[in-house]
Parts: sequence; structure tokens; C-alpha cells
Amino acid sequence: MTKIIVANQKAYLNKNDVETFLREFIGGDVIFCPSFPFLSMFDFYKLAAQDLAIGNDASATGEVTATQLRSLACDYVIVGHSERRKMQNETNQLVNKKLKTALEAELTPILCVGETKEEYGLGITEAVVNMQLKSCLEGSSNNVIIAYEPVWAIGTGLTPTNEEISKTVKFIKSLYPEFKVLYGGSVKASNIDELNKIEEIDGYLIGKASSSAQELNTIVKSCQ
Ligand code: PGA
Repeated sequence: MTKIIVANQKAYLNKNDVETFLREFIGGDVIFCPSFPFLSMFDFYKLAAQDLAIGNDASATGEVTATQLRSLACDYVIVGHSERRKMQNETNQLVNKKLKTALEAELTPILCVGETKEEYGLGITEAVVNMQLKSCLEGSSNNVIIAYEPVWAIGTGLTPTNEEISKTVKFIKSLYPEFKVLYGGSVKASNIDELNKIEEIDGYLIGKASSSAQELNTIVKSCQ
């Protein structure tokens, strides 16, 4: 069993931490998604960016464009992460524009979708995920990876049951059989063996645990 592993290190590490991480990480087939300033420090791994600008306007202060990411040999980019939806008010329409920008530059978007705690409580996960996917993928092509990430599971230590994850991932695959589907939300060394029992999952989007070399070493060993 080999799973896709995407290490979304968010803003957890500074430069010294990255150097330590790279010394302690044993290695493996991981798509690293460090903060922008550290992308080139991971350039012997596959690279993903955590975000990108809409369009390719070179006069946009503070933005990072698809063209710049391609120049760093970055092949993937996360779009629609719930933290950006919440903190930067990113809507499905805006995520759709980023997704199209990525595809035009031949970057593979890793599109995040998932329900909030309240939506989970109401039992409307599939409806929410369906709506997000429909809007974010509108007018796009095939080369997309979907990350199912329940918002309430991100950074909380909580995860849905294997049955719940399996049901939602199967639902997504019934709608979009051509896409790989990752699970994300509190994936860590201590629950990876249990999650690996879910056959439908093609891989994981890992946040906090991916900023610890020890945690990631265990996860890689369990998945590859
Ligand atoms: P987490 O984050 O693993 O820290 O819960 C996952 C994510 O935000 O992609």
C-alpha cells in the first residue's frame, strides 16, 4: 500500500527549524508544502505551495504567482484550505479562480473541501462537500487532487470515524471518479495505522504532524 503524503507545514517552522527538520527527516516520497520562503530548501523533494495569486500579475505586491512557483519546480498548490477560507474570507468563487490559474500554469491544485462542526452535527456533510466541489471545480479540467478535510478535525486532535471518512470519500469518488482523494485533519503518527485501514483514501494532507521529522518519519514508514 502506497499513499500520497502531502506535508502542509503551514507557518510552523522558521529557517533553523527547517534545517533541523531536514537533518532528521529520513526521507521518502513526500510532497512538501513549506512556507514560501523555504520552498527551495526542499527542492530535492516534490514541492507544493500553500497558496498562489489569482492570475499572473507581476506588479502585485506581496503575492506569489504561478509563474514564480513553476520557476521553483513546484508542481502542486493547495487551494481552498479552510484556514484561508476563514482567515482571508476566500469564497468558492475565488478558490475557483485560483484553481484555474494553477491549471493554466500546469500546477496540480490540491483542492480542500470539508464541513464545519455545525454542518457535521446537522448531518449535511455530503451536501456541503458537493456544493463546494461543484463551485470550486466549475469549468476546470481533470488534473486535480481533492483533499477532504473536515474543518472541525483540523488542528484539533479530533477525527471522524473510519466509517464516516470512508463514506464521504466514496461519495466524492462517485461524483469525481477521475480524481485522487486525500484525507486531512489531525493525521499523526499515533492514528496513521488506523487511518490506513480505509482503502478508499489515496493519501493524506498532513498539517502539524508534518512539521516534526519524527512524526513524519513514522507516517512515511506506515504509508510506503
Ligand atoms: P492538521 O492540519 O493535520 O494540523 O490537523 C491539516 C491541514 O490543515 O491540512
